[in-house]
Amino acid sequence: MCGIVGYVGSRKVSDLLLEGLFRLEYRGYDSAGIAVHDGGAISLRKRAGRVQELARLVDEQPVEGGVGIGHTRWATHGSVTDANSHPHVGGNGEVVLVHNGVIENHDTLRDHLQSRGYVFQTETDTEVVAHLVAHHLDERVKLGDDPGETETYVRAVEITLTELKGTYGVVALFRDLPETIVTARLGSPLVVGVGEEEYFVASDASPLVGYTDRVHYLSDHELVVLTPEKMDVRHRDNGRVRPSLQTLDQVADDTDLGEFEHYMLKEIFEQPKALENAIRGRLDEDAATARLGGLNMTPRQLRRIDRIVLTACGTSWHAGLVGEYVIEEFARIPVEVEYASELRYRNSPLSENTMTFAITQSGETADTLAAMRELQRKGHPALAICNVVGSTIAREADGGVYLRAGSEIGVASTKAFTSQVMILNLLALHLGRTRHLSFPSGERFMRRLRELPEKVEQALACHEQVKEVAARYHAFDNYLYLGRLYNFPVALEGALKLKEISYVHAEGYPAAEMKHGPIALVDERTPSVFVIPKGGIQPKVMSNLEEVKARGGPVIAIACEGDERVAEIADETIFVPYVEEHLQPIVTSIPLQLLAYHVALLRGCNVDRPRNLAKSVTVE
Ligand code: AGP
Ligand code: GLU
Repeated sequence: MCGIVGYVGSRKVSDLLLEGLFRLEYRGYDSAGIAVHDGGAISLRKRAGRVQELARLVDEQPVEGGVGIGHTRWATHGSVTDANSHPHVGGNGEVVLVHNGVIENHDTLRDHLQSRGYVFQTETDTEVVAHLVAHHLDERVKLGDDPGETETYVRAVEITLTELKGTYGVVALFRDLPETIVTARLGSPLVVGVGEEEYFVASDASPLVGYTDRVHYLSDHELVVLTPEKMDVRHRDNGRVRPSLQTLDQVADDTDLGEFEHYMLKEIFEQPKALENAIRGRLDEDAATARLGGLNMTPRQLRRIDRIVLTACGTSWHAGLVGEYVIEEFARIPVEVEYASELRYRNSPLSENTMTFAITQSGETADTLAAMRELQRKGHPALAICNVVGSTIAREADGGVYLRAGSEIGVASTKAFTSQVMILNLLALHLGRTRHLSFPSGERFMRRLRELPEKVEQALACHEQVKEVAARYHAFDNYLYLGRLYNFPVALEGALKLKEISYVHAEGYPAAEMKHGPIALVDERTPSVFVIPKGGIQPKVMSNLEEVKARGGPVIAIACEGDERVAEIADETIFVPYVEEHLQPIVTSIPLQLLAYHVALLRGCNVDRPRNLAKSVTVE
């Protein structure tokens, strides 16, 4: 993953780079670094730890210049050390670059370069790219290319790129070409911001906000040369191409913490609003259906669909599982939910009329993008359910639906999950109404959707109670999360939330599966979190709950308001409002998000920036 930023122009570049890195820190925060060209030499500052550490270093040892690059790392190759932090230096300092991605053939390239006398200072895969560019630069000059000419450098980079296997977003500075940066992309996102006699480059548009709203998103195999005066875009196969300039329409004005201590808590509380945004303008009262124009399909085409494949990773995959249940129930179309990382390498047979969706908050997850491309390559239209406008998946999909949840900055996904579930409900309604779902059933469905933001608002009232429960339970090291049908994905998601931000071991299961193995874990030190709202299956889940109690396991139950029977048996009961079963995941996941948040806080964890993780996983 990682965040990249670069600049050519006349501003004080170190401040600008640091500001950009702060905005990109959600993408990785193992280490950070910048390199600045002052017209004569390139100065480097880099340090393991958060961007704040780098800012301190730059404060102690300032760097001057108007051209520079920066990086905040999520380590894939090489441990988290000052030396392994980007930028990396090639040759004898003639090239300095930052990289996002993975160079799969780094071993072979390293051997080859070492045999030619290149000395490696780091354990990263990236350093081979830096040395390789230096090597080709050297070769070009030996062949007679002018070392003062931009083309010599561009050529060296182009040749290097043909030798790399894997993914990259790279931005390079050259010691002997002071006013230029060269950037190229394959697989990892990059966007160029166009200003007045200045250009920006970054992993996403957030560092550009406030500076420019004119952007060019790099496509794969594009290379861009930037000087303060001009931007020169080339494509590997098509030569020079015109930049496709767009105006940024999502202004990142929702990134302030406001009254909240953490983004995660802020985003949990933003859910009623996010859900309202998800349905706004999408309910067609006259036809009792959902209006999803972005699908780009006629009713006749929709009618022909005989199977749906939903692909995603992590939390978005959990949302997909809810999607499977709701689409099958209301639209009666078989649905399969596949981990994108599996789908991309599997060769499952897909019928011609299979509809496919990538579900993703960021729109940049490398596995999800690769799975989507694989589906497209096989001739299937691939649609996206995505939050980030202008992200790679949003741009490459054949259509889709935006979540409109606003920026999600906390690494633990919260409002994106409930918004995804909401969109999948809209999809079920839309598809259902092209089939057997009647007008009155469509109306009932829509009424429930409209009521939902209010129900979520009510569910958030459990906050204080969840805080108290967390205070009593935060010291336990193992948890089970159990739920059935629509609440089985909620159990998985609840367990993932706890794991990722509090580093507590938690397993989610369908409640009835517990007796096939996990029940052996039950003891007085292993709490079970039961998601047990009212519904057809509740008596069965109740029996599972009793089974845990009979073995001395503490039980925290998420139940519907007024459900005293659950409250009598469970050790702790957190009440949420009743909603129809297919919408329950949106409501029952609220206390689980809050539980994970408070347990993590009480255990002294960094809630918004959990260890080892990053917000968008742009490496395989
Ligand atoms: C969620 O809390 C996780 N941090 C993670 O599982 C995430 O959902 C996953 O990486 C997929 O991301 P995406 O939705 O941006 O594709
Ligand atoms: N593979 C590179 C590294 O480990 C880049 C990782 C990233 O994208 O941050 O340093």
